[in-house]
Amino acid sequence: MTRHLRSLLDLDADETARLLDLADAVKAEPAKYAKGLDGKSVAMIFAKQSTRTRISFEVGIHQLGGQALALSSSGGTGMQMGRGETVHDTAKVLSRFVHAIVIRTYGQAQVEGLAEHGSVPVINALTDLYHPCQGLADLQTIRERLGTTKGKKLVYLGAGNNVAHSLMLAGPRAGMDVVVGCPDSLRPNQAVLEKARADATKWGTRVAVETDVDAAVKGADVVYTDTWVSMGEEEEAKRLIEILRPFSVTPELMAKTGKDDSIFMHCLPAHRGDEVVDAVMDGKWSVVFDQAENRLHAQKALLLLLMGAESF
Ligand code: CP
Repeated sequence: MTRHLRSLLDLDADETARLLDLADAVKAEPAKYAKGLDGKSVAMIFAKQSTRTRISFEVGIHQLGGQALALSSSGGTGMQMGRGETVHDTAKVLSRFVHAIVIRTYGQAQVEGLAEHGSVPVINALTDLYHPCQGLADLQTIRERLGTTKGKKLVYLGAGNNVAHSLMLAGPRAGMDVVVGCPDSLRPNQAVLEKARADATKWGTRVAVETDVDAAVKGADVVYTDTWVSMGEEEEAKRLIEILRPFSVTPELMAKTGKDDSIFMHCLPAHRGDEVVDAVMDGKWSVVFDQAENRLHAQKALLLLLMGAESF
């Protein structure tokens, strides 16, 4: 059966733990996996900008001995998808050429469609709904820094967006409670919230939404934030910044966790002075650059597992 990462619902708790163990092994001994994708090609389709995701996938595939094809979905050098070629036909054609597809796009339906109509693994590199690769690197980072994810409380502050949705699925399958601290008007997608809550019950954890920022961060082991203005929301920037201002992560807010060893995370890119201030980004709590590096290791583990070089 072809395995995909359309969202973190594609991995159960044991598979997530296996992937994190492999990510640690790949990080510790990269040379051991240098032929993992020998002779294999991966198409990487990017309909949106990216620094971390695109570079970490491209470098990671190279380090595993494979070939990465970085493609844009439209424009003069882009794919015919940008001129209306269907997801169905694109999936069929790419499956004849490459051994996996990585895609960053707008609608989750494109990811689902590629997985449905193609015959190779499809990896969601961010859609409007989910960012599962980020969630995996985040779990690896939390384990590294806190020793374990089990029994920890992760608090995401900001709009209930794709990163929040992936954390709502990532945390519980690694034994963490997740609280989304957000204004009432920027709550997570209700369907995703219901799925995440049902899923968390399976793993004996919980997912909650809290509109009071102080109540949200109390007891947090991890305080996490993301840009307040996601790609495509630029016209709404002023309104979003105004609504989200109370959720800005400052040293004073970190102190309200009541814990000396809580960490600060951000998927990046950061807008310093908005969702987080310099004193936190560059302060004792921050693990943001380890988190960015772990995109490489977690995604290498993901590719090895989905492409059959390692087994779950
Ligand atoms: N965090 C993240 O996905 O970064 P990029 O948008 O730069 O890929």
